[in-house]
Amino acid sequence: MIKNTLLPVAEFCQRRKTFIDQMPINSIALIAAGSEVTRSNDTEYPFCQNKHFYYLTGFNEPDAVLALIKGNDSTAAQSVLFSRKKDTLQEIWHGRRVGQVQAIDVYKFDNCFSLDEVDEQLLPLMVGKASVLICQHEQSDFQQKVLSWLAQLRKSARTGIKAPAALIDCSDIINEMRLHKSNAELDIMRQVNVISGAAHQRAMQQTQVGKFEYQIEAELLHEFATNGARYPAYSSIVAGGDNANILHYTDNDETLNNGDLLLIDAGGELAGYAADITRTFPVNGKFSAEQNTIYQLVLDSQNLAIDAIKPGQTLAELNRIVCNFLTQGLYDLGILQGNLNVLLAQRACKKYFIHGLGHWLGLDVHDVGDYHASPQREQLRAFVAGMVMTIEPGIYIPRTDKTVDEKWRGIGVRIEDNILVTATGFENLTVNAPKTIADIEALMAQ
Ligand code: GLY
Ligand code: MN
Ligand code: MN
Repeated sequence: MIKNTLLPVAEFCQRRKTFIDQMPINSIALIAAGSEVTRSNDTEYPFCQNKHFYYLTGFNEPDAVLALIKGNDSTAAQSVLFSRKKDTLQEIWHGRRVGQVQAIDVYKFDNCFSLDEVDEQLLPLMVGKASVLICQHEQSDFQQKVLSWLAQLRKSARTGIKAPAALIDCSDIINEMRLHKSNAELDIMRQVNVISGAAHQRAMQQTQVGKFEYQIEAELLHEFATNGARYPAYSSIVAGGDNANILHYTDNDETLNNGDLLLIDAGGELAGYAADITRTFPVNGKFSAEQNTIYQLVLDSQNLAIDAIKPGQTLAELNRIVCNFLTQGLYDLGILQGNLNVLLAQRACKKYFIHGLGHWLGLDVHDVGDYHASPQREQLRAFVAGMVMTIEPGIYIPRTDKTVDEKWRGIGVRIEDNILVTATGFENLTVNAPKTIADIEALMAQ
C-alpha cells in the first residue's frame, strides 16, 4: 500500500518563488483556496482544493487566501497565508485545522494570519506600492470580494491611500508553470498511473454478464483507494454497449450484456494529480470479429500518434496522422464511402471520432496550459520535455446510425494513455492497463 504521497515543501516554495519572479514589479497576487460545496442540507461533497492554490501552497484547507507581495524586485517578496484559526469546538465536530503557527512551520509561509484578520492585515498590503493586483478571474465569488476590498480602499483616497489600479489574471503565469512538470510531479504521475492501471485490470477481471455498470465502478474505486488514491480524479465512465457512444456517460446504472463492449474511462487522483485512462473490452471476455476490427484500428491509430511524440512535435500534426489513418481505415471497411481523396481532405473520420485527440494532464484532468502557438489558433504549439498529455483516439458508431451496415452499430471504442514528452521522445506512463487484444483476452480468461 502506498501512503498518500505529498510533494516536498521545497517544491511549493520554489513554485512561489518562480511565480513571484514573473509578477510585475510593485504587485500583489491574491489566490484563494476552494470552498466546501453543499451536497445535501448540512453535508458536503468531498473537498477538492482549488488547483492553482494547491499548486502554490500544498495547503489543503478550504477558504484560505494566499497573498504574494512583490516590491521593486523579488528579493524582499513575501508569501502570506490567511487561513482558518484553530477552534476546539469546530475541530471536535469537523476535523483538525492546521492553524497559523503550523502553517508557517510546515508550509514555510513568511507569515500567516487568521481569516478574521483579513481586513486588518491584508488591506494594508494592497495599498501604497502595489499598483497591480493579480488574481484568478474565474473565481467569481472571491473576485467579488477583491472588488469590494478595492472599493473600500478607494473610499479612503482622500487620506492619501492609493489602491492598485490594474487587475490582471494569474493564468498567463501559472498555467505555463503547471504545464511543465518537475521530476517530483512526474514521480507522482507515474504512481497514480500504476494505481489506475491496476484498477483497470481489476475491472476487467471482475466484469461479468449481468452485473451492473456501477458494480464495476465500485471495483475501480476500491482499487484506487486501497492503493492510496482515495478519490477518483473525475467521475468514472463505465459504459456498456451503446452507452460508450455517450462521451461523458456517468449514469453507470445499466446491466452489462453478453456480446457488448464495455468502455471504462477512469483514473485516480494522488496528491492532487490525475490519471486519465480509457480501456474498452468485451463484457464476455472475447472480442467479436467487428469489435476486434474497430478496436485494432483505434489501437493502431493510437500507437501511431504516441510513437510520433517527441520535442518539437505538435498536437495538430498528431491529429493529422490519426485522422488520415482512421479515415483510410473506415473507408477500407466501407463505413465511410465516397472518393478517398475527398474523404481524407475532409477528415471524414470526424463523423465517428467526435472529440479531440488529447489534452494536457496534471493537477486537473483537463489540465491548464495554452495549446496554441499561432494566430490561427491551430494546435501548433511545439512539445517540450516535461509536458504530459493524453492520447485518446476513439470510434463511436451509435446504435441509431442507419448509414452503416448493422453489424457495426452500437460499437464505441476509446483507448487512452498518458504520455510524457522526454528529451528524446516519449515515456508512456500508462504501463499496466492491458491494451492489446491478446493481453485483454488473456487476463479476462484467467
Ligand atoms: N476523462 C475525460 C477525458 O478523457 O478527457
Ligand atoms: Mn482524457
Ligand atoms: Mn478519459
